[in-house]
Amino acid sequence: MKVVVAITGASGLILGQRLVEVLAAQKKKPYTIVSDAALKISEYEPFDLERVRSLSVELFKENQLEAALASSSFGVDAMVIAPCSMKTLASVANGLSDNLISRAAENVLKLDKKLVVAPRDTPLSLNAIENMRKLKLQNVSIVPPNIAYYIKPKTVDDLTNFFAGKILDALGIENNLYRRWG
Ligand SMILES: Cc1cc2nc3c(=O)[nH]c(=O)nc-3n(C[C@H](O)[C@H](O)[C@H](O)COP(=O)(O)O)c2cc1C
Repeated sequence: MKVVVAITGASGLILGQRLVEVLAAQKKKPYTIVSDAALKISEYEPFDLERVRSLSVELFKENQLEAALASSSFGVDAMVIAPCSMKTLASVANGLSDNLISRAAENVLKLDKKLVVAPRDTPLSLNAIENMRKLKLQNVSIVPPNIAYYIKPKTVDDLTNFFAGKILDALGIENNLYRRWG
């Protein structure tokens, strides 16, 4: 199974890292792409780039448009963008293919494969809502990292696992990252 994890410049880089960790632990090492803005934000919040690199088949930067991932012939089965900035959301929703992340996502859409995005921003502009609508119409799963207080999180890690579990559910990948209702 070829899975792509893209980590963009929204808050919550640890969410992308957790997905890479869980996929690698399930022997589904992902191909990982990190945007320039994500690298900038890693100066301000938890994110271990070298750990992510070591748990990926390969780690790409957004400008590596010569990578195999830039072609739909590479045959990706599923892709997740987490966290997904409003800029990348707009780029994917409008088919811009302006870097390796939006190009890889466009390939996934071309082949009707599974794409999950975890948009992170608040409040949301009409632009962002319209872009989510466009993606939903193409069968993309929109899984914002929205807190559920009923899980009674004690740590940030509890929340990260809850969000990562919800994303993996949308990708159709089994996990026990959070306690299910009932
Ligand atoms: C500390 C920091 C936090 C940010 N958090 C967000 C965010 O949560 N959501 C968002 O859409 N943009 C956020 N931004 C702005 C994006 O990083 C910016 O729009 C960038 O161009 C996104 O590029 P990318 O989608 O290629 O990663 C943040 C920027 C900084 C410096």
